[in-house]
Amino acid sequence: MIQKEELHNVIVVGAQWGDEGKAKVVDMLAEQADVVIRSQGGCNAGHTVKFNGETFKFHHLPSGLLYPEKWCIIGSGVVIAPEVLKKELEDIHAKGYSTENLKISERCHVTLPYHIEQDKRQELLRTANAPESKIGTTGRGIGPTYMDKVGRIGIRAGDLLEPPEVLRKQIQRIISEKGFFEQASLPYLLDVCEAYKAILAPYITDTVALLQDALAQNKRLLFEGAQGTLLDVDFGTYPYVTSSNSTAGGACTGTGVGPSKIDATLGVMKAYLTRVGEGPFPTEQSNEVGEILGERGQEFGTTTGRKRRTGWFDGVVARYGVEVNGLDGIALTKLDVLDTFAEIKIATHYQHIHTHEAYHRFPASLSVLADLEPVYETLEGWQSDTTQITQYEDLPPACKAYLKRLEEVSHCPVWMVSVGPERQQTMMRKNVFNPTVAV
Ligand code: IMP
Repeated sequence: MIQKEELHNVIVVGAQWGDEGKAKVVDMLAEQADVVIRSQGGCNAGHTVKFNGETFKFHHLPSGLLYPEKWCIIGSGVVIAPEVLKKELEDIHAKGYSTENLKISERCHVTLPYHIEQDKRQELLRTANAPESKIGTTGRGIGPTYMDKVGRIGIRAGDLLEPPEVLRKQIQRIISEKGFFEQASLPYLLDVCEAYKAILAPYITDTVALLQDALAQNKRLLFEGAQGTLLDVDFGTYPYVTSSNSTAGGACTGTGVGPSKIDATLGVMKAYLTRVGEGPFPTEQSNEVGEILGERGQEFGTTTGRKRRTGWFDGVVARYGVEVNGLDGIALTKLDVLDTFAEIKIATHYQHIHTHEAYHRFPASLSVLADLEPVYETLEGWQSDTTQITQYEDLPPACKAYLKRLEEVSHCPVWMVSVGPERQQTMMRKNVFNPTVAV
């Protein structure tokens, strides 16, 4: 329960399978924050930010970057693909914005060309061996970079700044531990590291110290999650997950800010559900409903352009997200996508197809999950345009009834409602940084 009148440090996480619309939420909250921080994932993320009438697609960069007076930090838990970052930075510079406020942790691990090769090769092998075992990764080398980090054979951003003989020794050790490298000889890797150093060096710093100083100065920190709860390597639908902790705990381990410093956690959820890539999705609608959701919601991946799978809001997933992230509030996005439906469904729980046992919690076992089917409650649709509504009270009664039921099923209040991509298409029910103040 939130006690403090004014909150300083807020985590925003995806509470479903990613693509919940976190960037818009973070962009809006960033106005009130002093520092915006990414803590995990890498360029597998795709965050669309609209700023001064222009659209930006960020993969590594924190969504607050376009506010020059705010520090934007890429924390130690993030993995960086320097060539992709370079393009993101060039795009911003070409549009006339500075990136001097960007700080990259010296502890971030760097994706090397062989990580990308490995990611693609593993997916091909999975597809060839057993098509159902394909994960549908973004092909950005994310998993292999984290594997090498945990295997203690990675290269960190700060390592690129070490004297050449120190880096050379490190690469030699990596080559000998990895066994063989056809496309990755020592001279080749040294050249790659030199090129990466040129891209990253201006931004690399001790972000732990920066963040501790910011805390000491009572600055407001906003942690920007990537991916979503059900893609978390520990709590997601393993192995159909990403390779980092995309739940709220990752905001601490991926930045060096202790859990006691966090004041509130906001979970972003779509008013329906989507998933990109393979893996279970109990409320998936591979039918006309799914087509309408996909079309109205423009459900295509920002990073890969892949068509997203779509389905009804899943209360089991939502409660799980509320629990494992310790959510204080929900930011509900894309409510307007449901505007045309005569009936809308919410899954309240699952039921075993053989035993008929009710499941109210999300199981770890995928074979158990495969034997569960969602139990739906059908609510009346509102069948009117919500995209111009700016006050919660002005929403159609059936729409408010849907939101109320969604809160009950999720066990969490809805703090923000979004009915379109623009900032003004947002209803704030709580001032996130100051929840006791009416909005
Ligand atoms: P990886 O992170 O590229 O290894 O991909 C692992 C899984 O996470 C795949 O199913 C991807 O589609 C999914 N994934 C990774 N990043 C995102 C994201 O930002 N949004 C949605 N899904 C993602």
